[in-house]
Amino acid sequence: MPKPVKKVVIPVAGLGTRVLPATKSIPKELLPVVDRPLIDYVVAEARDAGIEHVILVTGRGKTAIEDYFDHAFELETTLKAKAKNDILTEVEKTIPRAGDLSYTRQQAPLGLGHAVWCARAIVGDEPFAVSLPDEIVPHRPGFLKQMVDAYEKVGGNLVAVEEVPNKDTGKYGVIAPKARKDNLIEMTGMVEKPKPEDAPSNFRIIGRYILQPEIFTLLETQEKGAGGEIQLTDSMNKLNSQQVFHACICEGVIHDCGSKLGWLQANVDLGLKNADFGGTLADYARARLK
Ligand code: G1P
Repeated sequence: MPKPVKKVVIPVAGLGTRVLPATKSIPKELLPVVDRPLIDYVVAEARDAGIEHVILVTGRGKTAIEDYFDHAFELETTLKAKAKNDILTEVEKTIPRAGDLSYTRQQAPLGLGHAVWCARAIVGDEPFAVSLPDEIVPHRPGFLKQMVDAYEKVGGNLVAVEEVPNKDTGKYGVIAPKARKDNLIEMTGMVEKPKPEDAPSNFRIIGRYILQPEIFTLLETQEKGAGGEIQLTDSMNKLNSQQVFHACICEGVIHDCGSKLGWLQANVDLGLKNADFGGTLADYARARLK
């Protein structure tokens, strides 16, 4: 049995340029999908995968994320006084047990690889997960749980992938597959944001990873890559030639809420599934589409 994955690193320092101006004064990670912010979905998915400790790699202008995971005394006292117990319960659920959440700060926007590297001291010498908060999985088991299940069988490192149209490879990390067994693919390599004509496949990397701590040594000396940034994909590409590494095809949907369209689709999807008003929303949508 490989060493268990108990920590997740969630980089939240990004500027959210794809959803401006909404993210001018609100962290992208706090954009709501129906009734809760993106970061809430991602933390809940990690907890369902058995993750005990959440490490947020934050940055300037992101303190509202810290407040989200803390008590809001005035709000809670008011809800209690007005006996709004259902809402109070929902609000209280957002607060993790003291000490189960750590923050470290990425002091400059040097890229995803650098953001993950900023968490090295808190992760220590153990395997860990990385979840990118743009992407949310609305169902259970979430992608991270499916990956932890696969990890318990094969160990090593894992990255989630899905097939995308060839024209979209330039938006993502893309893998070069070698051999596939069920939902796991061995790779010859990975490349960040290749042009469609250079892409080694149509399997794009999704923002869910399980990595061994040796990635930190590689990130330490990682040179800038695509977009002039220190890319996690480039260090994973090196790790792939040193350790067991699989791409994992997960079952279900993942919404990329880092784009305006993806965020709207997530709201429609989860809105339609909402027990209180999903039916009414469907009627409204049908009427609007006539
Ligand atoms: C990052 C990764 C990329 C991955 C993507 C998934 O890119 O670098 O490999 O495919 O997340 O969302 P970003 O979206 O930060 O440009």
